[in-house]
Amino acid sequence: MRQFFWGILFTGNLFSAKAQRICLSEEYLKQHPVLLNTGTNTPTGVQRDTLSNEIITIPVVVHLLYKTGEQNISEAQVRSQIEALNKDFRRTNTDAINTPAAFKLLAGDAKINFCLAQVAPNGQRTKGIIRKYTPKDYFTGDDAMKFSTAGGDDIWDSKRYLNIWVCNLYGRALGYATVPGQPADKDGVVINWDVFGTTGNLRQPFAKGRTATHEIAHWLGLKHIWGDAQCGDDGIGDTPPQSTYNFGCPSFPKLSSCSINGNGDMFMNYMDFSDDACMNLFTIDQVKKMRSQFAMGGARNFFLNSYACDSMQATGGPLGDPVPFEPMTIKIYPNPVANIVYVDCKNGSWSVGRTIRIFNLQGIEVLRTIVYKNTNGISLKQLTRGIYLLRMEEGEEQITVKLFKQ
Ligand code: ARG
Ligand code: ZN
Ligand code: CA
Repeated sequence: MRQFFWGILFTGNLFSAKAQRICLSEEYLKQHPVLLNTGTNTPTGVQRDTLSNEIITIPVVVHLLYKTGEQNISEAQVRSQIEALNKDFRRTNTDAINTPAAFKLLAGDAKINFCLAQVAPNGQRTKGIIRKYTPKDYFTGDDAMKFSTAGGDDIWDSKRYLNIWVCNLYGRALGYATVPGQPADKDGVVINWDVFGTTGNLRQPFAKGRTATHEIAHWLGLKHIWGDAQCGDDGIGDTPPQSTYNFGCPSFPKLSSCSINGNGDMFMNYMDFSDDACMNLFTIDQVKKMRSQFAMGGARNFFLNSYACDSMQATGGPLGDPVPFEPMTIKIYPNPVANIVYVDCKNGSWSVGRTIRIFNLQGIEVLRTIVYKNTNGISLKQLTRGIYLLRMEEGEEQITVKLFKQ
């Protein structure tokens, strides 16, 4: 009933709100109503590549399945996990200083950021946490937690959400992950409720949120550092070979039969099995591998288009007052321009990654660039004097502004 009420209340509004934000003309809106009213939160069409140094944001939905009260972990515990991920994947984890000097130069910043989703697949607002009672005492690796019909909770579109199921796993299992290319209805990671986050009723020595760090790295294509075989290969150049996994908290250097030098195993890598407190890095090559998933044609490329963490894109919902609507505008200045024109995009998070093209009045494209932040400076030095059209576009949607080059 409540849902229904909100639906009615916001349908009219949101429709025009969305239209303005993506800078569609009213005519276009009337002609293509379906395009805007799909209730999805990924702009259609357009694939793009990662920008160099782009910080990639991954919207997360946590499916929290509980049978007992203690399994129904707090929002603070969930948030503490997101924070821990944001440190580990930016190499701002405080224990980065514990990386042995011999490995320090190999450590990498993955430039990946996680956020709890703010827009649900139906377009409504969400906290990114779904709490659901399950009659099941425990789950196993059979993926039952991913299906409502099996006592779990159905996946949200894995092209724009990282699905994390937090539940009670059989025995002392910590978690597991799907890897790129596995079936879309099972895509995501599963983490036991008592090793999720850094605060709450946590199991030692797994209380620093590194199970999720490890599983999400699998989800981004990383293998175990020992290559899952005796002196195996993880396919990563800058992780040294090691004979098998480590556990507990070895001290440096920990030599094993296939060590190539005195530095031995990189047991403090997130892809080993050491205790949470003794893990502290991904390497530069591991970071490259993970980021490659977002490149054009990569398994996670669609995330570059997800705006599930942008609450401005939500259409209302039961989470209190809707966020006030602010239409998207682009401002270009100075105009006329001599050398550098600044393109200022309000609601910039929505614009980042879009293409700006400049045409002359014959309709010939003379310049092309990609929006990488809210205010973009574009050098027009090589253009001759005259009138140009600056266009920001995505697929068929576009804003065009007239520009005078002096
Ligand atoms: N054993 C699990 C796996 O292979 C997770 C290991 C995580 N290790 C940790 N210290 N949290 O996926
Ligand atoms: Zn693993
Ligand atoms: Ca290696």
